[in-house]
Amino acid sequence: MTKEPLVVGLDVGTAVTKFAVAKRLRPDKEPAIIALGTASTEGLRRGVVVDIQDATRSIVIAHESAAKMIEDDVHEVIVGLNGSHLSCHHTLGKVAVSRADGEVTEEDIARVFTNANPGPSGQNKTILDVVPKTFVLDEESGIKNPVGMNGIKLELEALVIEGSSSPVKNVEKCVHEAGLQIEREVVGALAASESVLTKKQKDLGVMMLDIGAGTTSMAVYEEGRLIHVAVIPIGAGHITNDIAIGMRTSIEVAEKVKLKYGAASEDELDGEGNLQIDLSKVSPEEVGVFPVSYVAAIIEARLKEIYDYVLQELKSIEREGLLPAGAVLVGGGANLRGIVEMSKRELRLPVKIGIPQGVEGSIADVDNPTYATMVGLVLSGFDETGDEDLGVAPGGDSGSSGGIGDMLKGMIKTFLPE
Ligand SMILES: Nc1ncnc2c1ncn2[C@@H]1O[C@H](COP(=O)(O)OP(=O)(O)OP(=O)(O)O)[C@@H](O)[C@H]1O
Ligand SMILES: [Mg+2]
Repeated sequence: MTKEPLVVGLDVGTAVTKFAVAKRLRPDKEPAIIALGTASTEGLRRGVVVDIQDATRSIVIAHESAAKMIEDDVHEVIVGLNGSHLSCHHTLGKVAVSRADGEVTEEDIARVFTNANPGPSGQNKTILDVVPKTFVLDEESGIKNPVGMNGIKLELEALVIEGSSSPVKNVEKCVHEAGLQIEREVVGALAASESVLTKKQKDLGVMMLDIGAGTTSMAVYEEGRLIHVAVIPIGAGHITNDIAIGMRTSIEVAEKVKLKYGAASEDELDGEGNLQIDLSKVSPEEVGVFPVSYVAAIIEARLKEIYDYVLQELKSIEREGLLPAGAVLVGGGANLRGIVEMSKRELRLPVKIGIPQGVEGSIADVDNPTYATMVGLVLSGFDETGDEDLGVAPGGDSGSSGGIGDMLKGMIKTFLPE
């Protein structure tokens, strides 16, 4: 066995906690997921922890089930951050080039990067990531790496992702109470993007859309750079709740109905609309018979509500209907029957399902859109993603520029010509 380090991704989702251990089994090959543990999550609502003990237990169970698959246990994890408290804004850093001969140095990059991070916008806010968009050297924009170039004024346009401190601290607390240390924190939507989006899609203009259980998160890229991130506090779990209300049944039965008979729209039923669902066959204590089309109508209504919010976000950045590479759907909700066609109509964009890439034929089977975030977290721990600027050191940067130094290393690499 090689002595390659183990990299661990932990995605504490509203419905499912996912824990993956990865390792490069062969040099020059993609890393492999050598262990995968999942647990149904308790103690989260809409992507944030509402009960520390319950959420901690979910992490412990997922960790234990992954640990059974490997010899050495792991204690350091890369954790995903999610929740509708996440927001983003554009920022501009400006510095004068320090060398007398006007040659830009890495030290100038460090200064402009610090200058671009004005710190959190409020007391209970924390900076989660500062993602560089472009350098501008004496009004010349679109510069990827200005080191070695000559100029007087260096600017950096960046996207700052910020969140509320308390939900971030709460998830950190759960991870620690589960006996784990945090190696790094990464915004979940960025992690998911890394595992499913190609460079070409990002260059053309694309949206990653993660339909989870309690949230729908999105990340928009254009000209190879991140331009927007948003988290909507509605997800596929709300569809289950709607079905439970519509059928006057329990959440458990409604979930089974959704998984077995659900479709994203009545239009996607291929003539099965009149097929009857007998609830007593789903669970002996239940009574009632409903047509499949009734369930599809409930699902469609909720998905349309989610897409209304998504379209509002796209409108806010003037990209509605304007992303040539379309939308790439991930998260458990992306498994809904007929979701691609329904989404094409609603979003007026090309739509694909995102299957996580970048890990080689794995021992643990992760080729499902549900695992996009988790795989992205793992990839951020390996060099070849070129995205070491993803994420921040834990607990570092609320109120200061801590964590930024960590990112700089990766940032400089990111900007080197490809
Ligand atoms: N085939 C399917 N059809 C419809 N919904 C599905 C299907 N498979 C999974 N789901 C739903 O996907 C959700 C779980 O997805 P996922 O694991 O991405 O969510 P999560 O990460 O726990 O939540 P979040 O990201 O919002 O915190 C559940 O609501 C589940 O019902
Ligand atoms: Mg999720």
